[in-house]
Amino acid sequence: MTNNIVWHSYPVNQQLRAEQKSQRPLVIWFTGLSASGKSTIAGALEQILTKQGYHTYLLDGDNVRHGLCGDLGFSNDDRKENIRRVGEVAKILSDSGLIVLAAFISPFRADRKIVREIVPEGQFVEVFVNAPLSVCRQRDPKGLYAKADKGEIKQFTGIDSPYEAPLNSEVTLEAGDLSITESVNNLLAYLYSINTLHSGYKPVECDSRNMDDVLA
Ligand code: ADX
Repeated sequence: MTNNIVWHSYPVNQQLRAEQKSQRPLVIWFTGLSASGKSTIAGALEQILTKQGYHTYLLDGDNVRHGLCGDLGFSNDDRKENIRRVGEVAKILSDSGLIVLAAFISPFRADRKIVREIVPEGQFVEVFVNAPLSVCRQRDPKGLYAKADKGEIKQFTGIDSPYEAPLNSEVTLEAGDLSITESVNNLLAYLYSINTLHSGYKPVECDSRNMDDVLA
């Protein structure tokens, strides 16, 4: 499909854009079951990063499905296309020098691998938000598991559609046990270890499940 189409390289590139923002671009990809905590943890991390002066963008499954992916459902093929599109957007945003946070169930290993491979080497961090299905069901903040149990939603991940857990994610968060603060601190420590954060990074000191105290 790319016959007769030649890539054009421009003088303003990722490096220049990243230097202008004094940061290292990255795609932080959160995968896990619905209600595992992906969006909450990604949102809290983004708030901390923004407060510390980093430039970010958060892509969220439910939000993207209101627009860019509004034509897609939850068949295996549609999920594949969803992740393909979002992966391309994440790549463009990170090329613009941003730290991108992406929160998608992204149930298939092969699809996550494709995203890993399209972003520059070393700029993809897979975060497995590992909350047991029993915990997600119990939380059920949108009432979707209850609907799936009654057969009102088909192809629901964890019920009648598979979830392939990562085998080699950079970070695994035991999100059934950890508070949001603990998850965010694990991520900050990891980001620091790979030189994404400036020196002077400090863990968030807060034991609350929501980050309001920290961000006030
Ligand atoms: S993905 O599988 O293609 O990566 P995505 O993260 O975009 O999914 O969207 C998941 C969100 O859509 C869930 O958080 C949930 O709110 C909603 N949803 C609606 N139907 C389903 C379904 N059949 N399976 C999973 N999530 C669903």
